[in-house]
Amino acid sequence: MRNTTEATLATPLTLPSGQVLPNRMMKAALSEGLADAAGGPDTRLTRLYARWADGGFGLIVTGNVMVDSRHLGEPGNIVVEDERHLAGLTRWAKTTQDGGAKVWMQLNHPGRQANPITGAGPAVAPSAVGVSIPGVPTPRELSREEIPEIVRRFVTAAAVAETAGFDGIQIHGAHGYLVSQFLSPLSNQRTDGWGGDVAGRARFLLEIVRGVREAVRPGFGVGVKLNSADFQRGGFTEDDSRAVISMVARESVDLIEVSGGSYESPAMMGRPVVSASTRTREAYFLEYAETVRELAGDVPLAVTGGFRTRAAMGDAVVGGKCDVVGIGRPAAVEPEAARGLTDKSVSVLVSPTVRLRVPNRVRRSAPTVKTLEGALDLQWHTDQLHRMGAGLEPDAARPVWRTALTAVQRNGVDAFRSRRANGSAVGGASLRKFQIERAIGRRVANPAVEFAMRRGLVSTLATRLETTGRKSGLVRAVPVSASFDDTGAWLISQHGLRAGWTLNIQADPTVRIRQGNRWRTGTAEVLPDDDVDARTRSFAPHPALGPVTSVMFRALQSDPVSVRITFDDAGPNICPSNNESSDERCRA
Ligand SMILES: Cc1cc2nc3c(=O)[nH]c(=O)nc-3n(C[C@H](O)[C@H](O)[C@H](O)COP(=O)(O)O)c2cc1C
Repeated sequence: MRNTTEATLATPLTLPSGQVLPNRMMKAALSEGLADAAGGPDTRLTRLYARWADGGFGLIVTGNVMVDSRHLGEPGNIVVEDERHLAGLTRWAKTTQDGGAKVWMQLNHPGRQANPITGAGPAVAPSAVGVSIPGVPTPRELSREEIPEIVRRFVTAAAVAETAGFDGIQIHGAHGYLVSQFLSPLSNQRTDGWGGDVAGRARFLLEIVRGVREAVRPGFGVGVKLNSADFQRGGFTEDDSRAVISMVARESVDLIEVSGGSYESPAMMGRPVVSASTRTREAYFLEYAETVRELAGDVPLAVTGGFRTRAAMGDAVVGGKCDVVGIGRPAAVEPEAARGLTDKSVSVLVSPTVRLRVPNRVRRSAPTVKTLEGALDLQWHTDQLHRMGAGLEPDAARPVWRTALTAVQRNGVDAFRSRRANGSAVGGASLRKFQIERAIGRRVANPAVEFAMRRGLVSTLATRLETTGRKSGLVRAVPVSASFDDTGAWLISQHGLRAGWTLNIQADPTVRIRQGNRWRTGTAEVLPDDDVDARTRSFAPHPALGPVTSVMFRALQSDPVSVRITFDDAGPNICPSNNESSDERCRA
């Protein structure tokens, strides 16, 4: 079945089910976040896929479609639980096939990586082991009865995809989502036949594959996206992955796509920075893929991650290292990427990568910078999908700050509100969130503000407050955001009465706060009855930006309260900017 000899990027590929891909270029899954409020596809999604349909790909894999509306990976995921969106799904499939490509729907359940702002309840996972991403609560362990019910959800979604005219489905078994949580010994600590050795951990995936295959017609494509490893100590290793590939290859599967990593350790996006040997061969997982060629038997292999030049892609296919080349991020900026590669008019794909301008010292000492960069990279590419969905061209020069603002807009005030309203932020989850956010404050936000202040960048959103330590009696300085007026200043204590400085204020309300380049003294009062949402909006430099400021505050807070400082010093008497005043209050 494998026909790699003499194959080029333009050669068709016959899959084990008999389905023929017109060439070796695959648009890898890119989550679009373009569903309507009911989780169905709308015109933005079909507009986007019309661009890829003309892009010359042999296979187009959709962004991950959720099999349970209670558990989403991110806002705007398409959800398939039954035939309620059949008309929209049918249009989506048809539009994508118009240019001759095959289209497969990627099916996914996020498990413990469920987005906490979209979920209708606690996240679920093989075991109650949390993911180390700030703000993501610990999941609940799935009961033995619930597991087959999720398997059935995958099967139902596949059957609906077939009815809608899709050519196949891909099971998302990579990147730390539920299937890969079952595969990893770190997240799967079950002892009941769904965990244990690698065969036990692979059972969930294999039951989905078998269930889907039984439910669909013989020529329907069934693929699996798998990690080479999850790049976490004690996690899913390359040996585990090889064992799973042997098991999957014994089932009726059409294509195994190799990727790696998770949102805790995003190797699929080339983060942390790839090794010199990987840089030479470009694709992050090609070396690993070569080691599983024999194990995969007749099942063709796709490799995704890092491919950018026609030369490297051609070598991989001509050299028989893989059968199909997956393209992710470049397809978000060049939707017609595959056409230029197969007709040889393009030799390198455009692929901007988000990198924050942070000194290497800070980057090394603050892993959160890398996490933030990874998240912004995803959002930046999602922005490009949304531009195409709106009928615009992608914008390869889009500044990162715009992406940051759009991400806040997209995740929205209401999304943050629902997180609080649904009660996920109470009890243990709330305490954990507080601890995580306090750690971020101490290790990242506070040093960043200190750094900015040392360079004279004192602003409303980054100034310094001094209180008297309630236990030590010593001066305690903390970076804070403050909104000044004639008689005092408003502050938001993001962790309410639990924050050390609000406890200090309640013991001794005398404080000093830096306004511009002058220290002011005043009396502080914690005001739990103040409308803290309205207060955060008043911190915006312009009223139109009020909602954005409010969301930014909420993203890093557990139980916010307002704090009022009333000045009791002699009034604004601006200190010289050169810091040479003899007045002690002017010195930093
Ligand atoms: C915006 C964005 C969304 C993604 N969504 C998915 C997804 O839904 N399912 C999936 O398996 N991978 C997803 N990925 C990962 C890509 O499929 C691919 O593995 C990764 O981008 C590496 O390939 P590249 O170097 O060609 O971009 C996503 C990546 C990006 C940038």
